[in-house]
Amino acid sequence: MRTIEWDDSDSSVKMIDQTLLPGELKFIKCKNVAEICEAIQNLRVRGAPALGVCGALGVALAARTSSANTVEGMMKDIKAAGEAIKKTRPTAINLSWGVDEIIQIVEVEGMDTRLIQNISLDEAKKMANEDIAINKKLGKNGAKLLEDGDVVLTHCNAGRLACVDWGTALGVIRSAVSSGAKIRVIACETRPLNQGSRLTAWELQQDKIPVHVITDSAAGFLMSEGVINKVIVGADRITQEFVYNKIGTYSLSVLAKEHGIPFYVAAPISTLDPESWEEHIKIEERSHDEIRYLGKAKEQNVPEGVPILNLAFDKTPMENVSAIITENGIYHPPILIDEIILG
Ligand code: MRU
Repeated sequence: MRTIEWDDSDSSVKMIDQTLLPGELKFIKCKNVAEICEAIQNLRVRGAPALGVCGALGVALAARTSSANTVEGMMKDIKAAGEAIKKTRPTAINLSWGVDEIIQIVEVEGMDTRLIQNISLDEAKKMANEDIAINKKLGKNGAKLLEDGDVVLTHCNAGRLACVDWGTALGVIRSAVSSGAKIRVIACETRPLNQGSRLTAWELQQDKIPVHVITDSAAGFLMSEGVINKVIVGADRITQEFVYNKIGTYSLSVLAKEHGIPFYVAAPISTLDPESWEEHIKIEERSHDEIRYLGKAKEQNVPEGVPILNLAFDKTPMENVSAIITENGIYHPPILIDEIILG
């Protein structure tokens, strides 16, 4: 089961609606770019690698739905769609990477409108297939860092739901379990949208990998009690200086350092951003209502009028990272992004 894919039967982008999990497993279909943007904005599809593939499929969809009958007209439509898609969520680099990769491939001499439609779709499908292959490779590399009996803490969801399949941080755990290691997972709830309790717990339960959910604030105490012996998280963007990931990751890295626990980051090369510096990167701030009200019943959680800050991501300095795991291998400090890219 893929989290996101192209559906040839009706030329749509088909994806699991992750806002309904764990209560309901339902697929939705996006038939135009506005629907893609809505799905990304509302986290029906989420997680850096899945967003990359969604961006790529979104460009292919833009080519399909364009009414232009000239190459110039179609490229204009595709680029406008790409910009709209990229704006929906600014922090994960994979989204803009997925969009730009496809646009770059079709923006060459000698194209006609039919070729743009066919090539953009073929390349986006290829990216989706490669995502799985990359995660399997990354998982196999990272599994070397895990041992039988480990209790591994993870944050947010860096599993198959955050990718096309398999996962990054959870892919490492899956690979270790597939080769016979008994691993137990501690999933942080990950307030306010609860990707840990809703999504990580759901997918690990499906795979019969033992998982306990904890509140985000319980992690430090469990580390101090010796319950957790490794931490693995995914990433939305990795620069020369920082790992950008779900809010709360930085606190976990500080706690892990304090308690002498390895803190691993698992991400594909497409998440690396050697060119950007802190000042270039926008940390997404989401609707205050995600904190002000609880659940679908919208129970009041914060009094009306009290200001809220709802940052979706934070940044962890490289000195807190014990290793970065990619499809190219495992990289221990000193971690140099350019070296990882070169393999
Ligand atoms: O806001 P989300 O759910 O898209 O945030 C996702 C994360 O922070 C993941 O840890 C990250 O994208 C890595 S997914 C393999």
